[in-house]
Amino acid sequence: MFGLGPYPNSKVMEEGKKEMGSRLVQELAMSGRDAPTSYIQRDPVRQINSPPHTSAQVPVIDLNRLSQSDGADESVKFRDALQSWGLFLAVNHGIPSSFLDEVLNLSTEFFHLPLEEKQKFANLVDGKEFKLEGYGNDIVLRDDQTLDWNDRLYLLVQPEDQRNLDVWPTNPVSFRDVLHTFGKNTQTVRAQILRAMAKVLELKEDCFVKQFDEKANMYARFNYYPLCKRPDLVFGLKPHADASAMTILLLDKEVAGLQVRKNAEWVDVPVFPDSLLVVIGDGIEIMSNGIFKSPIHRVVANSEKERLSVVMFSALDPEKNLEPLDEPIDETRPRMYKTVKTKDYLADHFKHFAEGKRTLDFYKI
Ligand code: OGA
Ligand code: NI
Repeated sequence: MFGLGPYPNSKVMEEGKKEMGSRLVQELAMSGRDAPTSYIQRDPVRQINSPPHTSAQVPVIDLNRLSQSDGADESVKFRDALQSWGLFLAVNHGIPSSFLDEVLNLSTEFFHLPLEEKQKFANLVDGKEFKLEGYGNDIVLRDDQTLDWNDRLYLLVQPEDQRNLDVWPTNPVSFRDVLHTFGKNTQTVRAQILRAMAKVLELKEDCFVKQFDEKANMYARFNYYPLCKRPDLVFGLKPHADASAMTILLLDKEVAGLQVRKNAEWVDVPVFPDSLLVVIGDGIEIMSNGIFKSPIHRVVANSEKERLSVVMFSALDPEKNLEPLDEPIDETRPRMYKTVKTKDYLADHFKHFAEGKRTLDFYKI
C-alpha cells in the first residue's frame, strides 16, 4: 500500500469521511467483539491460509558483498531477486542492529500508549475530516470496501521542510529524532541499492539514483496488527503492490505474516532479525521498463500474536514524470509503460486500492 498525493476528487473525499471515528482496529480487538462484516474477505480471495506448495525461499542479499569486486555471485542473485521476486531480504546494510531495535521498540511503545495519547496525532480532524498523515486507518472511499486489520501511523519524512510535525509523536520522547535518523539511513541504503541495480543492468551507475532528487518523497508507515480472532476471514493487509518507487521495510523480529506472490503461490517472508526487506514498487518497475518486478504481497492476520512493521516508502518528486528511463529501452525491448505524473499515479492508486484493482495495469502499453 502507499497513499500519497491528492485524493481523487472531493466527492470521494466526502464519502471517505463517513464512519471514520470508531474504526481503530486495536480498539475493536480489545473489545473482544467479532470482526465487523466490512473486514471479512469476499471470494475469490478468501483462501487466506492455504499453505504454499513451493519450497522457494525469499532471497537474501548481502549488500556489502554486492559492492565489492569479488561480488559477482551476489550480483547474479541480486538480479534474479529483482526480476523474479521483486523483493529480497538485505543483510550487511550498514544500519546497526541496536538502532533497528530502537526503531521497533519505540514504535511498539507508541501503539501501546493509551488511546487519548495516540489520538493527539490522529489523522482525523475533530474526529471526522480525513488527513493523509497521522495515526488511524486508511481512508474509506467506498461503502463496499473490504477493510484491513491494522492501524497505522503515517508520516512524511522527506523532504524535511515539508514535514507536518503536528502529527509526529512526541511520546516516546526520542521518537522524532529516531525517525529522522532512520530516514537518513534508509536513504543511504536506497542509494546503494539503486546504484547496484544500474550496475547489474550495465547502465550508467547513477541513472536510477539521480531520479531521487531533493524533492523526492519518503513516507514512513508504522503498521500495527492487533490480534485477530478470525485470521481465516480477515487480512492484516489485503493483496496489493506498492505504488512507491521502492519500499524498505523493518519487519517484526518475532512474528511473521507478510507473504509474497511468486509463480501463483503465496510464499512467507520469514522472520529475519536485523535484516531489511526491500520491495520494488511500481515506480521502479516502470523506470526499468518492466525488467524489475513490483510484486503482489499481503499480510495475514494472527490470532495469537500482535505484529508490527515500519515501512519506508520512497517515491519521486510528485511533480516529476514517472516513465521508463531511456537506457532500458531498445529494439528488443520496446517501451512498455506510458508516461504519468508521479502524483497522478499515486492518486489513482488510492482509488484502485479501494476497488481491489492494480494501478500498473492501466499504464501498460
Ligand atoms: C505495506 C506493506 C507489509 C507489512 O505497508 O505496503 O506491504 O509487513 N506492509 O507490514
Ligand atoms: Ni506493501
